[in-house]
Amino acid sequence: MNVTTLILGAGAAGLMAAAHAGPGTLLIDHARAPGEKIRISGGGRCNFTNMHSDFKNFLGENPHFHKSALSRYTQWDFLDLVQRHAIPWHEKTLGQLFCDRSAKDIVAMLLAEAEAARAQLWLQTRISDLRKTEDGFAATLERDGKTTNVTAQNLVVATGGKSIPKMGATGLAYDIARQFGMAMTDTRPGLVPLTFAEDRFVPLAGIATPARVTSGTTHFDEALLFTHRGLSGPAILQISSYWREGGDIAVDLLPTTPLAQILRDKRQTEGRRALTTELARHLPARLVDHLAQSMDFKGNLGDLSDTRIDALSDALSRWILTPGGSEGYRTAEVTLGGVDTNGLSSSSMMSKTVPGLYFIGEAVDVTGWLGGYNFQWAWSSGHAAGTAI
Ligand code: FDA
Repeated sequence: MNVTTLILGAGAAGLMAAAHAGPGTLLIDHARAPGEKIRISGGGRCNFTNMHSDFKNFLGENPHFHKSALSRYTQWDFLDLVQRHAIPWHEKTLGQLFCDRSAKDIVAMLLAEAEAARAQLWLQTRISDLRKTEDGFAATLERDGKTTNVTAQNLVVATGGKSIPKMGATGLAYDIARQFGMAMTDTRPGLVPLTFAEDRFVPLAGIATPARVTSGTTHFDEALLFTHRGLSGPAILQISSYWREGGDIAVDLLPTTPLAQILRDKRQTEGRRALTTELARHLPARLVDHLAQSMDFKGNLGDLSDTRIDALSDALSRWILTPGGSEGYRTAEVTLGGVDTNGLSSSSMMSKTVPGLYFIGEAVDVTGWLGGYNFQWAWSSGHAAGTAI
């Protein structure tokens, strides 16, 4: 069998590429259904893009690589597609756009687009014996117990990263990159809860509170959630992509409350109020109880010296924590790192050394923030490769 383009992986990026690569495209996936991560994303409603998508919302060793694809296919282009398919949507918070009904609307839309472009989709298909030929690529495909030898001018690798192996994630993209002599950057789980030794936060499990969480020079102001295993919630998932094993994070539990000023004022007017009672007006009471010993919350407001007030306010605005690790690929939303972007053209996503070989989506060393940015990268990079072919 001869095809113009063979796309590996019918996920977000692969479906988008298939919609643009034109006739003669064969899209294969080993899963039973296409776009499974889209289907479960955003709690089943798919946070499909972000209105504020900007270059600064993406990480990777080359901080400029993603700019070309993202500026040629933007969040507005994807939103336009969603509207053309009459899919109802809404903005949640921070520019995050979700389907009103179901993430299945997005999968159906992408399948319709790929079908309109006359791409063929083969599911439950395995690939082996992939090799370079003089004018393209050859491989063996196995489906329904049948073997098909396929040749293709272009090979687009869209098999994603390592996150959630239970959903069929494999390291195929990395194996193919290595096979063709392409460099890789180190991979690690991103957008993932952080864990702490000795069940440190078990008594606090279930508490959610707004916080500013900082790692190095990067911070996020979002909700922090205590869990049985450690810390989660959007603020932690975001910072996990910047945190490195062994490093600290700083948590400001009162990012918008001028605690020192409040305590000074209340010392005059409510001197007999217990410090813990006052703190519980600004923080969850269970958290105040838990911190009372280690941060020495005792006495009444009237007993507090200026130095003590400053120390208290400091302790709550710079709570330094050292995570023991992360929950890993089992729950990570994305994989950081991947195919080294130095080896790819930023406009087409084609390998600089192997003509006709493309890498798109999560397999590439470009990772977005939480909030619809990772799908935007899948759409933009899939569009870049599809239109370049
Ligand atoms: P993706 O993983 O989508 O697709 C890869 C495809 O390749 C899969 O269909 C897989 O079956 C196939 N494949 C893998 N190995 C293969 C092999 N060896 N042979 C054949 N096929 C193979 N992002 C966002 O922007 N908004 C959101 O709401 C969410 N929500 C979310 C929730 C959860 C639980 C997770 C795990 C992730 C998210 N994400 C997200 C991240 C988002 O899902 C992710 O960034 C994109 O799906 C990446 O798109 P890709 O097409 O690169 O990979």
